[in-house]
Amino acid sequence: MTLIEASLAARLHAHAPYSHFMVGAALEDVDGRVHTGCNVENATYGLSVCAERVAILKAISEGARKFVRIAIAADTASLTPPCGACRQILWEFCGDIEIILTNLHGATETLRLSGLYPRAFDASYL
Ligand code: THU
Repeated sequence: MTLIEASLAARLHAHAPYSHFMVGAALEDVDGRVHTGCNVENATYGLSVCAERVAILKAISEGARKFVRIAIAADTASLTPPCGACRQILWEFCGDIEIILTNLHGATETLRLSGLYPRAFDASYL
């Protein structure tokens, strides 16, 4: 299964009864392991967690620390990029990672996090 296919499969597990906006993410680590995530919403709305953060936190909790790329899948013609909160978390754990956006129709776009999130705040400022 490709990383894009893994993100599309993860999307099917989304718990999105409020927005009905389903997202999947698949994060590949340096050992080739793939860590997936979907968005998990909550009735309080504000406690909802994006697919990207679920994938990253799952990976960290399983001991993975170095990552090479992440695929993000949503059902939008204009490919869905990670939100601001996810960009910050991606920067913390993945640095200038390759980001592959995709949709259900096979469209893809490959970016770098530094292009989406310039001049990020990180531990180098502390
Ligand atoms: N969402 C993600 O999971 N990732 C993104 O990149 C954009 C937004 C989720 C959060 C919420 O559950 C739903 O999509 C609508 O914002």
